[in-house]
Amino acid sequence: MNGDMSRERRPSIRNSLSSRLLILTVIFVMLAEVMIFVPSVARYRVSYLEQMLAEANLAALSVLAAPGNTISRDLEHRLLRAVGVNGVVMKLPQRRMLLLAEEMPPAVDATYDLRGAEPMELIGDALRTMIMADGRTLRIIGDARNAEDAYVEIIMPEASLRAALLDYGWNIFSLSLFISIVSATLLFLTLRWMLVRPMRRLTANILAFRRNPEAAHLPELPTGRGDEISLAAHELAEMERDLRQALVQKNHLAALGAAVSKISHDLRNILATSQVISELLSDSLDPTVRRLAPRLIQSLDRAIELCQRSLKYGSADEPPPRPTRFRLRSLVAEVGDTLTLDASQSPAWKNLVADELEVHADRDQLYRVLMNLGRNAAEAAGEEGEVRVSANEHDGHIAIRVSDNGSGVPEKARENLFRPFVGSAREGGTGLGLTIARDLVQAHGGTLELERTGPSGTCFRILLPL
Ligand SMILES: Nc1ncnc2c1ncn2[C@@H]1O[C@H](COP(=O)(O)OP(=O)(O)OP(=O)(O)O)[C@@H](O)[C@H]1O
Ligand SMILES: [Mg+2]
Repeated sequence: MNGDMSRERRPSIRNSLSSRLLILTVIFVMLAEVMIFVPSVARYRVSYLEQMLAEANLAALSVLAAPGNTISRDLEHRLLRAVGVNGVVMKLPQRRMLLLAEEMPPAVDATYDLRGAEPMELIGDALRTMIMADGRTLRIIGDARNAEDAYVEIIMPEASLRAALLDYGWNIFSLSLFISIVSATLLFLTLRWMLVRPMRRLTANILAFRRNPEAAHLPELPTGRGDEISLAAHELAEMERDLRQALVQKNHLAALGAAVSKISHDLRNILATSQVISELLSDSLDPTVRRLAPRLIQSLDRAIELCQRSLKYGSADEPPPRPTRFRLRSLVAEVGDTLTLDASQSPAWKNLVADELEVHADRDQLYRVLMNLGRNAAEAAGEEGEVRVSANEHDGHIAIRVSDNGSGVPEKARENLFRPFVGSAREGGTGLGLTIARDLVQAHGGTLELERTGPSGTCFRILLPL
């Protein structure tokens, strides 16, 4: 493992989930505030102007109430100052009256009629007043309160309206900023608690597992909260458990492989000694011993070869086949001879392979395949039974069948057939025979299958490409 990679990595402050969330929250809250801000400023302008119109209306009414509709110049001045306008005009159904005015009213730059103005218009007007500072004089028109059909007009400087609007806008803005910061902080803390912290724990667990997958104790995972993260944590925990199990199994197999190598090594030495002795046996005076000695030598040769090959490959994996062309019948006969050495305790061995049939395969490996199948069949058939081996060409393949008239593959074995170590259903069996046979056949590009089994016997079929 790369040392640099295994160091715990943390995102920089700028990239961390929490600070990104913080910034985004501030932006979103501000955005929401802008949407509130613009219409409320327009609304504020309207109510400000309505307020002024109302005051002007009141001042106008006081003039109308005076005898001869006139007041002193001084009072007029004071009224105008109090309301904050340059002049007030009132339109009554029959006449239009300039009721209050400065001696030199400034020229009007823009007229706004509040009666029935559109909302968008109001918003635009408010923004213009806030942004532009061109010191205009405005004429504002609104309904009068004293009579129907009457209206009031005021002439006023835009500056006072602008100052009020800016003041109001600033208040809203600082309030929004305050609200957004408070809500962003709350959100930040919540998300940190709900998302970022469990994520960190998840990461710490993954890192620890990566460093040492076999460690019994890893940092605790944020499970048990029922949300998406705890679901992920749950799955992670399961995956780690499975991986750990697989790892234990793999270590187990590796240890087994080493053991096999050691056994092969010493077995080869032992077999070599036996080989010397069996060569001496071929000079024996006993005719039976003399007859069987070559077969013993042949078996020992094969055993030594097998040990050497598995040593060379260093593991229990089979070396690739080294195919040659040979007559199948003689190989089947060899297997039969070996399996029925003690004729009195062996089933009958029927070699039904045609004399001229040739196969192209690794002879030693095919011998082992037939040996494993033949031994299983002989065990199933028993002394009284019969084992048959037949072969025929079919569809570019050669099918070799090993059948017996035993009592069939037991239920327990059938479930785990071809699975190493667990496939055996007999005393002293390792459950490796069929696995080895299938591996060897598959290395030849062929298949090995249980073709039929039942109370009347069993048949395994090997299919080899021609
Ligand atoms: N021809 C057969 N008839 C009945 N049962 C069979 C036959 N061939 C295999 N079996 C069953 O399948 C099981 C698995 O066979 P396999 O050859 O893989 O292992 P094994 O014979 O138990 O042990 P070993 O590794 O020593 O061969 C056997 O235990 C046996 O119960
Ligand atoms: Mg077997």
